[in-house]
Amino acid sequence: MTTTKDDGFSLLKRFIEQTLRIQCSNYKEDYIKRRLLSRMRSTSTTTYEEYLKYLHEHPPELENLRNALTINVTEFFRDADVYDLIRKEVLPALFRGRKTIRIWCAGCSTGEEPYSLAMILSDLMAADKTLSGQIFATDIDEVVLKKAKDGIYPEKSMGKLTDTQIHRHFTKLPDGNYQVKPHLQELIRFRPHDLMSGQPVSRFLDMISCRNVTIYFTEKQKDELARTFHSALVPGGIYVMGKTEYLGREVEGLFSPINSIQKIYTKKD
Ligand SMILES: C[S@@+](CC[C@H](N)C(=O)[O-])C[C@H]1O[C@@H](n2cnc3c(N)ncnc32)[C@H](O)[C@@H]1O
Repeated sequence: MTTTKDDGFSLLKRFIEQTLRIQCSNYKEDYIKRRLLSRMRSTSTTTYEEYLKYLHEHPPELENLRNALTINVTEFFRDADVYDLIRKEVLPALFRGRKTIRIWCAGCSTGEEPYSLAMILSDLMAADKTLSGQIFATDIDEVVLKKAKDGIYPEKSMGKLTDTQIHRHFTKLPDGNYQVKPHLQELIRFRPHDLMSGQPVSRFLDMISCRNVTIYFTEKQKDELARTFHSALVPGGIYVMGKTEYLGREVEGLFSPINSIQKIYTKKD
């Protein structure tokens, strides 16, 4: 029996839900199809059935598919323990050496990551008025960057924020969405930037947070990026990676771990 295109799509969706635990119904069908097509192009398969067979025969492709499906996924305080360390140890230690710090949030998607960092920065600045900071937030995708700049989020995005954080940093809009207050937006400069360009967005940075971005990159590109970050950081500057990311062998000598589980590193000179 031959299956129609849509039967193949249904089989593939069921496979994704069972194997990757990604609920396809949470996404627009068009979006899922676009992402699948991009993976099908990369694996030289032409039908959903062929791609499903490919997945069964090439298990590493599962991770590529997961990444393709979750490409812009982000949230406020993603990995709460990482942000705890940033709040309690990393930023206070940076501020012991200087009164103003510069942070680059690279691959910032729709803005939840730089706004999370801005909330921490703003709290530290409120506790000590002599402190200041600036966050450069960049992404290659101008559509998500526009959302980041607008800083408007639906109620379901606010789950990890405390009532105090929501009250202090957001305004509830008449339509039920939440808008980031100007004091946070003023800490961040959003701009488009391609991490493959080899150019940092700025130099003399105290911290770079580039999380859950390099999973799409080749080993060579990841190494080049680590070198770019190393050159853009001040001595003792901090590099925060995603929890599933790692430093390649060629570049691991450039950084030493502050916390290797939370993937927080400091620049070695
Ligand atoms: C999964 S999101 C991660 C968002 C956020 N950093 C986090 O951890 O929640 C990955 C982001 O990296 C961006 N990205 C992918 N390739 C990029 C590149 N070459 N240069 C800059 N950003 C890139 C994507 O557009 C996407 O917004």
